[in-house]
Amino acid sequence: MTAPTAQESPRLIPVARGNLPALGHAYQLWRHTLPFLDSLRSYGGVVRINIGTLPVYMVTDPELTRRVLTSESRYFETGGRMGDNLALIFGNGVGTINGAGHLRQRRILQPLFNRSYITAHSDVLADAVRGRVSGWRDGAPFEAAAEMDRIMVAAFLKTLFGPTLPAPREEEFYRLLRTLMKGVMRKTVAPSWANRVMVTANREFDRALARLRGIVGSLIREGRENPGTVGGVFQAMLAARDPDTGEGMTDAQIVDEAVTMLGTTGEAPGTALAWALHEISRNPGIQRRVQSEVDAACWGRSPAHADLASLEYTRRVLTETMRHHGPGYLFTRWTTAPVDLGGYLIPAHANVAYSQYIVHHDPAVFPDPQRFDPDRWLPNALAVPRSSYLPFGLGSRQCLGENFSWTAMLLTVAEIAGRWDLHPHRNRPVRPVASTTVRPHHLTLTPRARTACPAA
Ligand code: HEM
Repeated sequence: MTAPTAQESPRLIPVARGNLPALGHAYQLWRHTLPFLDSLRSYGGVVRINIGTLPVYMVTDPELTRRVLTSESRYFETGGRMGDNLALIFGNGVGTINGAGHLRQRRILQPLFNRSYITAHSDVLADAVRGRVSGWRDGAPFEAAAEMDRIMVAAFLKTLFGPTLPAPREEEFYRLLRTLMKGVMRKTVAPSWANRVMVTANREFDRALARLRGIVGSLIREGRENPGTVGGVFQAMLAARDPDTGEGMTDAQIVDEAVTMLGTTGEAPGTALAWALHEISRNPGIQRRVQSEVDAACWGRSPAHADLASLEYTRRVLTETMRHHGPGYLFTRWTTAPVDLGGYLIPAHANVAYSQYIVHHDPAVFPDPQRFDPDRWLPNALAVPRSSYLPFGLGSRQCLGENFSWTAMLLTVAEIAGRWDLHPHRNRPVRPVASTTVRPHHLTLTPRARTACPAA
């Protein structure tokens, strides 16, 4: 296989301004993430940044991003700086392997995450959400990102392991996942020399990883020895077979897959929900519209999967949240050969990155991109090329948890809107802060029990 090469003279790949000795652009990327990403579009379709001294080719153009993820994905394997750090946690899980192994794992796992499977397990998911939201106290403020992480981790653990996982294990999973996901982003964005000197943080990371893999390993043993002690997707994974060869997964592979899924659930859906609540709480008009839609669909009871189809406006609020505040902001690839990408010649064995944030804030695709407007998603209001909306990625590596995430996020917003009015604390401005995702820092919300709802 030969890679396409730039035919005449290739286009120059500029280096972004602000490159510092030893740090490169790491400080800007970590501390001023969103303005820095926004600034990269002005250099053209591809721009070079440096993490320490490591060059990373950032693709900023929506069409070139699409090519990297779909039509030319064979030249851009999963890997590179972020992929390599994720592999420390995920091992040979579906999110980090390439080639035939990846195809095989997708074939086995995809059916466990398709719409009908998630629909069939949505009662467990809805119970987990209700369990936490009904425990809120009237007037007692909560830190939104942490609370939404807890709800999403609880909901996913119940979907993954069945409804009987004891609460202390749930809490432990949550703590371990926070340590691991923070560690991955630190390892990705900080220069290698800085990572080597963070001895305590590295030890904490290694301990958390060993503990998480140990717990999952013991759940596999329990599930194999006493079928029925664990349930959900996990039990199905123990029994799953490759439809082409009829082979199942080894225990080591199941640990890698379960840890991959837990890791990917640890932050992204909770972050997205926290941003959605931020917009809902600070825009009374949006809050009222979501509440009336939920009241009309559920009439005072908790929402169930069957209600979701009628929550059109609520879905638009989430769709716009995933555009404007989409939690993923940087994913990396690794070039297998020199590639001509739209006239830019990218060398072999190079780190390439794409960013949902850059594509979703391109004014050529989304007019007035910094405005939060759920109605830009009204049918026929906006002609967005399908590939320019990619909160869950595109192509063969598109997110396996997409159906779970939409269902869980809709159920959660509907559960909250049916019971509570949310009020923002205005003492400190909410600030986006980069971690594995871009999270809303200082987002404290106060729930007030609704008096004017059908259940009251
Ligand atoms: C709002 C929530 C989520 C967002 C925004 C999100 C986003 C993404 C994105 C952008 C990718 C592609 C990364 C790339 O191109 O390299 C991805 C991949 C993946 N996601 Fe998610 N994700 C979410 C939730 C979940 C959940 C709950 C799971 C649990 C199963 C999950 C499992 C995965 C896996 C296994 C992959 C790798 C797929 C592959 O490489 O074949 N995600 N996700």
